[in-house]
Amino acid sequence: MRTLISNGTVVTADGSYPADVLVDGEAIAQVGLNLRETVTADETIDASGKWVIPGGIDVHTHMKLPFGGTFAKDDFFTGTRAAAFGGTTTIVDFAVQSKGKSLREGLDAWHALAEGNAVADYGFHMIMSDVTDESLQEMDQLVSEGIPDFKLFTAYPGVFFSDDGAIFRAMQQTAKNGGLIMMHAENGLAIDVIAADTVAAGTTDPIGHGLARYSTLEGEATNRVIRLAESAKVPIYIVHLSAKEALNEVRRARDEGLPAFAETCPQYLFLSLDDLGNGFEGAKFICSPPLRTKDHQPELWKGLVKGDLQVVSTDHCPFDFHGQKELGRGDFRKVPNGLPGVEDRLDILHDGGVVGGKITKERWVEVSSTAPAKLFGMYPKKGSISVGADADLVVYDPNRKHTISAKTHHMDVDYSVYEGREVQGGSDIVLSRGSVIVRNGEFTGTKGAGRFIKRAPADFARAG
Ligand code: URP
Ligand code: ZN
Ligand code: ZN
Repeated sequence: MRTLISNGTVVTADGSYPADVLVDGEAIAQVGLNLRETVTADETIDASGKWVIPGGIDVHTHMKLPFGGTFAKDDFFTGTRAAAFGGTTTIVDFAVQSKGKSLREGLDAWHALAEGNAVADYGFHMIMSDVTDESLQEMDQLVSEGIPDFKLFTAYPGVFFSDDGAIFRAMQQTAKNGGLIMMHAENGLAIDVIAADTVAAGTTDPIGHGLARYSTLEGEATNRVIRLAESAKVPIYIVHLSAKEALNEVRRARDEGLPAFAETCPQYLFLSLDDLGNGFEGAKFICSPPLRTKDHQPELWKGLVKGDLQVVSTDHCPFDFHGQKELGRGDFRKVPNGLPGVEDRLDILHDGGVVGGKITKERWVEVSSTAPAKLFGMYPKKGSISVGADADLVVYDPNRKHTISAKTHHMDVDYSVYEGREVQGGSDIVLSRGSVIVRNGEFTGTKGAGRFIKRAPADFARAG
C-alpha cells in the first residue's frame, strides 16, 4: 500500500517546509516538493492548509496501574485508541514490579496487557518498587530486551517508595548497563507527616492534597536524586516536574554540565491548585506531584522554551470520579492519584503553547515527539519525518476549533479535567506505520495492530 500525503506543510523539530510525503508499506519512502507529479500511490490524502507532523510520543502513561485499591481505568485498547484520536501514535507505559515480586513478573504482566490490545506502538519502562540483589541483576536483562529505563520513587512510602540507598544501587547498576533512571521526586516521608497533620486539623477535602505536598519538598527530592545520580555517574530523568523549586535544581545541574533531564505535563501548565478547591469535585484533579499555584506556570513555560525541560508527557492515569476517586471521600489521602490526558496533550499544548505564543510549532513537535524519541531510544524510527522512518504521521489542522468534553472524548473515564475548554488545533488523519487509524473523527485502526518497541539504551542521554 502506497499513500501520498500531498500539499501539506511538513513541521518537524528542525523546521517547516512545504512537501509531499510518500508512504510505502510501513515506512516513509520519500519527502519532497511536488512528488504528486512523479509518483503513483494507492491513496492520496490532500493536506492543503494542514501540517504534517510526526506522530506524538507520550513517554509517561499508566494503563491499568494498580493504585489505592483500584486500577487506572484505560486499558491498552481504549488508551492507545484515545491517544490516536489525539495524534499520539506511540506510548511508553510503566510496567510495575510489585513488592516481593521480580521485575520479570511485572514485565510479563504488562506484555500480556498490551499484546493483542494496543492499536498503535508501545514500549515499557519498569517501575522498581523492590531493589534487591536479584532485581538489580534483572535490570541488565531488561535493558537487553528493550526496556532500558527504570522509575523509582522518593514518594508513596509503603507502596512504590525506595530509600536513598536502594535508589543509589539502582543508579550504580544503570551506570554499568546503559540504562536510564527516571525519578518521581517528592519527599514522601515528610509529605505523609504533613498530610496526617492536615487531616488531624480537619481538612479532609482534596484541597488538603495540594496543601500538604509542598513544592519545596519536590525541590528537595529533585536535588537529592540529581546528586545521587551525579555520584553514581549516570544520567537522570525527572518525571512529571511541577514546581519551580524542582526546575531550579534541574537548571542548576544542567548549568554544571550534568546529564539531568526532565519532563513536565499539561496539567502543570494549564491547571492549578484552585482546581483542587471545589469541595470533593477537586478529587478529579488529584495527582502527584499536585497541581501548583499559578505562579509556577510561567517558570515551566520558560523551562520549555530554554530547554531545561525537554519533554511534555501526560502521566495519563485515569480513574472514574464515580466509584474510584470517591474512594477518598472524607480523606483526601485515599483518593487514587492520577488524571486522564493522553488524548488531549497535543491539542491543549498547541492551543495554549503555539496559538498562545509561548512556543513555536517546531518546539511543540520537539517536546511532544522528537525529544522523547531521542531520549528514550526510538529516534529516528519514531519522532522524525525522514526516509526509512516509521510512517507514524498526523495530518494536523492548526485552525480547527473543538471543545474538550467527557461526552466526546475517547478515554475510558467519566470526566475531563479540561471540560468545556475550547481549543484550536486537531488531528484529522492519523497513520500508524502506514495504516490510517483515525480519519476525520472515526477510528479505522485495528485492535492488536500495535507492536512492542524494543528500545535502544539511553545513549542520547549519555551524549547530552
Ligand atoms: O498521580 C500520579 N502521578 N499518578 C500516577 C503514578 C505516578 O506517580 O506517576
Ligand atoms: Zn510518579
Ligand atoms: Zn506517572
